[in-house]
Amino acid sequence: MTWRRPEAYARPVDSLSPIDRAAQAVAQADALLITAGAGMGVDSGMPDFRGGAGFWHAYPAAQKLGLAFEELANPRWFRDDPALAWGFYGHRLNLYRETAPHAGFDLLRAWSERMPRGAFVYTSNVDGQFQRAGFAAERVVECHGSIHHMQCVDECGQELWSVDVGVEVDTETLRAAAPLPGCPRCGGLARPNILMFGDATWDDRRSVEQYGRYARWQAEVRAARARVVVLECGAGKAIPTVRVQAQRMARELGGLLVRINVREHEVAAEHVGLAMGAKAALTAINACMAASRGSSRLAGYTVLGRGNAGMLRRGRGGAG
Ligand SMILES: NC(=O)c1ccc[n+]([C@@H]2O[C@H](COP(=O)([O-])OP(=O)(O)OC[C@H]3O[C@@H](n4cnc5c(N)ncnc54)[C@H](O)[C@@H]3O)[C@@H](O)[C@H]2O)c1
Ligand SMILES: [Zn+2]
Repeated sequence: MTWRRPEAYARPVDSLSPIDRAAQAVAQADALLITAGAGMGVDSGMPDFRGGAGFWHAYPAAQKLGLAFEELANPRWFRDDPALAWGFYGHRLNLYRETAPHAGFDLLRAWSERMPRGAFVYTSNVDGQFQRAGFAAERVVECHGSIHHMQCVDECGQELWSVDVGVEVDTETLRAAAPLPGCPRCGGLARPNILMFGDATWDDRRSVEQYGRYARWQAEVRAARARVVVLECGAGKAIPTVRVQAQRMARELGGLLVRINVREHEVAAEHVGLAMGAKAALTAINACMAASRGSSRLAGYTVLGRGNAGMLRRGRGGAG
């Protein structure tokens, strides 16, 4: 199938713009790997934790306490000061629960739904926003865990469990009001099933299962010789787990890496870096795909409507 260059981008073939290249790769891919860090949530109105100043801007109470993100995101507070521990995580739990995923999530889902091998998500975000945006839980790796799942601080043998209760937090002091979330088995304190800093007690069983499904999907993609595109959204350098994963998978699966990041968008020469916000970049890629279809065709897919969702439907035999 051929890629039709949008008229608006009518330049020699060897000078495709970065957005063109990204749109072409998405349009032609059989499988999509989405990797995401905190920057993906920023356009939904959530903070990233970029640098000490960025964190303290989001959490002025932490500044008053003189605690950096790495110090506050530490399991020791669940023993030393549970109200503070739950002040921080309860605030985030409430925030993530109240936040609706932005339109870029819908675009990613729409693209993945028309790909023969679908999509997999690899994210360090603990916010559950991909599942909330309609991605199947079986297609998500949460490498740092999830705030919507709990484990027992006392490791009493209780399995992980999910919560849907809110936590009342005083944002001035960053302290949570009783009752704090408790373990259904022993009645002791619960903590989010998130990998914190200096965390030897994170229960990784949920994550291990996710990695297993991820490995099976990779094997399927390889066996099918599927064309893969890796879209990385808002992953920072400070903790480079997500960036390293995206680079490695682009190399191993032989796909284009599209790194979307307002500030840290550097990539190797063969890949694409977009110095844009995630929502704007994904919207631009979708618009480029829509423009490219020209006579309403793009690599066998018909683009439906011009709204945020940019729904794509499989065309019949490329006749569209
Ligand atoms: N939503 C969440 O679940 C959440 C939020 C904050 C932090 N965390 C945790 O804290 C750690 C932070 O690491 P990280 O790399 O995910 O975040 P980070 O804060 O270190 O980096 C965020 C990155 O996103 C980029 N960015 C900011 N706004 C953007 C936008 N609108 N569009 C695209 N990119 C944008 C920044 O340039 C930066 O490179 C992780 O371990 C994560 O588990 C999670
Ligand atoms: Zn317990």
